[in-house]
Amino acid sequence: MKNKTVCVVGLGYIGLPTAALLANNGYQVIGVDVDPKVVETINQGKIHIVEPDLDSFVQSAVFSGRLKAYTTPQAGDIFILSVPTPFYNTGEIPQPNLEYVLTATKAIAPYITTGNLVILESTSPVGTTTQVYETLKAEGVDVENIFIAYCPERVLPGKIMVELIENDRIVGGINPASTQEVKTFYKTFVQGKVLETDSQTAEMSKLVENSYRDVNIAFANELSLLSDANGINVYELIRLANHHPRVNILQPGCGVGGHCIAVDPWFLVAKNPDLARLIHTARKVNDFKADWVIEKVKSTALAFELEQHRKPKIACMGLAFKPDIDDLRESPALAIAKALQTQFENLLVVEPNIKQHIDFNLVNYNDAVEQADILVFLVKHKEFIGLELDGRLVLDFCGILTEVEFK
Ligand SMILES: NC(=O)c1ccc[n+]([C@@H]2O[C@H](COP(=O)([O-])OP(=O)(O)OC[C@H]3O[C@@H](n4cnc5c(N)ncnc54)[C@H](O)[C@@H]3O)[C@@H](O)[C@H]2O)c1
Repeated sequence: MKNKTVCVVGLGYIGLPTAALLANNGYQVIGVDVDPKVVETINQGKIHIVEPDLDSFVQSAVFSGRLKAYTTPQAGDIFILSVPTPFYNTGEIPQPNLEYVLTATKAIAPYITTGNLVILESTSPVGTTTQVYETLKAEGVDVENIFIAYCPERVLPGKIMVELIENDRIVGGINPASTQEVKTFYKTFVQGKVLETDSQTAEMSKLVENSYRDVNIAFANELSLLSDANGINVYELIRLANHHPRVNILQPGCGVGGHCIAVDPWFLVAKNPDLARLIHTARKVNDFKADWVIEKVKSTALAFELEQHRKPKIACMGLAFKPDIDDLRESPALAIAKALQTQFENLLVVEPNIKQHIDFNLVNYNDAVEQADILVFLVKHKEFIGLELDGRLVLDFCGILTEVEFK
């Protein structure tokens, strides 16, 4: 198998680590990205994304001659699609945008020959692998004599190079022969189990994994609203409830963000809106939590103004979508800070993991603590834990005042 050439299409957070890992495992790898800057950077042995250990993997892959990047696909034996799958955020139910997957599928079609493997790794709505099959067929590919499968990626940013090898994987072919061929390929570099199913179950499994997280976080976020209405500390409440041997409630936050948990459940809701009621509601609960936070800050500011006869200086502490990262994609903290900036002049904004932001003049967290009348904690970054806050007016939306660990 390792004398094969693998063509990885889309060299972002998933495609580039996969390409570099395969090259370091002895495969000849062709990396493809439509962004010429990405291609140029990689061919210099450098990386354009932040991920521990990725730089050394890419450097050795490129300098050994086993990884070369191009802006268009080239002939190979195995084709992996790892392009984005965002959604169109219009209407009540956002719809999946499969444009990238279908464009990439058409782009590889001229290079596919008998016996090739085509693997979709992009997080996709149920039925997308069949659409890949149909698209290749329409492009004139002899689809009966190739192998097509879906293999979802479940890596955690920050641990990608480890989890690509150690995580269990699911392989779902469009037929049993495709499942077997693609499984054989993954077994050459994955140490975790490689589990077999059909393409639709594999697609749904990935969506269900992230929806499970979303629903459980929504439960915690709803508890935070109920607790606030009843004068109860939600973190204390959850800590106590979790002493029940069969209860394990997650921690609430200021919403749910990131490009996976805040996105993937919509792919299930969009397909079956009348049936996916819990998943849809969870999305709405988590989105509502951010709106509720904004209202809470506004009412606290108004109370301050009525008492002190001046407008308060407010500090938003954290912009990232989870603690200790620099990723702002779909971040509720970012949306909250942007909304508050339209209401409050001189809003102080803190994000210790990034140097600058186009919408804000970021300030140091110590300066914010010193200057602000109201401290709004949105993300439980390690820098914020243990800050001296005695006597300060604090709105804690992420459990910074507790010792409760995030799960
Ligand atoms: N990042 C993660 O942690 C993660 C985890 C699991 C699954 N996923 C899924 O993996 C897929 C890719 O995500 P990502 O985070 O790597 O995205 P990304 O935005 O980091 O990278 C995608 C790359 O694809 C390129 N691209 C777009 N269209 C192309 C085309 N037609 N041909 C070649 N290149 C093209 C883009 O220029 C970009 O460099 C998505 O479906 C995502 O949901 C991501």
